[in-house]
Amino acid sequence: MTKRVHNFNPGPAALPLEVLQQAQAEMLDFKGSGMSVMEISHRSKEFEAIVAEAQADLRHLLGIPENYKILFLQGGASLQFAMIPMNFRPAGASADYIVTGAWSKKAFKESQKLGTAKAAASLEADNFNRLPAQSELKLDPAAAYLHFTSNETIHGVEYFTEPLPPAGVPLICDASSDFISRPVDVSKYAMIYAGAQKNAGPAGVVVCIVREDMLEKVPTNLPNLLDYKALAEENSLLNTPPCWSIYIVGLVLRWVKGLGGLAAIEKRNQAKAGLVYQVIDQSGGFYKGHALADRSRMNITFRLPAEALEEQFAADAKKAGLIGLKGHRSVGGMRASIYNALDLSAIEALAAFMKEFQQKNG
Ligand SMILES: Cc1ncc(COP(=O)(O)O)c(C=O)c1O
Repeated sequence: MTKRVHNFNPGPAALPLEVLQQAQAEMLDFKGSGMSVMEISHRSKEFEAIVAEAQADLRHLLGIPENYKILFLQGGASLQFAMIPMNFRPAGASADYIVTGAWSKKAFKESQKLGTAKAAASLEADNFNRLPAQSELKLDPAAAYLHFTSNETIHGVEYFTEPLPPAGVPLICDASSDFISRPVDVSKYAMIYAGAQKNAGPAGVVVCIVREDMLEKVPTNLPNLLDYKALAEENSLLNTPPCWSIYIVGLVLRWVKGLGGLAAIEKRNQAKAGLVYQVIDQSGGFYKGHALADRSRMNITFRLPAEALEEQFAADAKKAGLIGLKGHRSVGGMRASIYNALDLSAIEALAAFMKEFQQKNG
């Protein structure tokens, strides 16, 4: 008998069971090819169809306008931290970063290594327990772009409304940990990127949605694999792509479509997060959320009254089949990552476990 746990890992994270089963069924003989997707050529008709279908499904789900390219790249979201300034910040120009947690801080630092970047806001003094209001942003009207992170995976704060850049300043978003978790108006963005290994698939591929006019800004002296324009011209097939990861992303997109698309997924995610926050809010202070506002629907960060209790919580949860709940050391405490693939039953199991743990130890 296969044993599956309730997987609250932050990434790589749980994948929908149906997707894993489909991959298993197609593993040895993908669509009559007599090969697995790991073995077929990236220049084959079969693989071209995988890429085309994944792009079409993503375009449909997010309502991506025709003047945006969809790329499947390597190097993770972390390489985009470097590629974005290399491609979109001309020599001598500055870029703005909203620093709202560990990940946007990394993006900011990487950008500073390569040129001028300014923090439009940073809430580090409060250990990133809320997002800055629009009025708190110090925005440069001449910035090459404004970068923000829609969901901070470690700190558990999430933007549900985009920050507004000054007129003419392109908006760029790291959506790694809330990608395809709700509808988004792509036309507000110059670029959205997401490492797949949270909501969209396995590690090894990063999905980039780039407005075509941005590609005209790309300098001509970049190495091909760091050049969005060159990558877009070859439809991400400039070199051997991560074929298997792209294939699984395609299956995940089909699964999301089957659930009713992003509006339906958003409802589901609201209900799921609501259940856990309700337990926290009704615990009389036993569970304390890290985020005071802008609470993430994807990564729920919370503390218990003592570190020893937090250790025990993680250990008891594991025994109960709930894994991956230990928080990041920079925040401490617990973190429940509840991406798209987790269904309500996993969240109900977590909520019940939390209540029982409090009864026993509160
Ligand atoms: C919001 C966010 N951005 C970037 C990254 C880095 O992604 P990668 O490991 O694909 O480089 C992560 C990984 O957890 C993340 O959560």
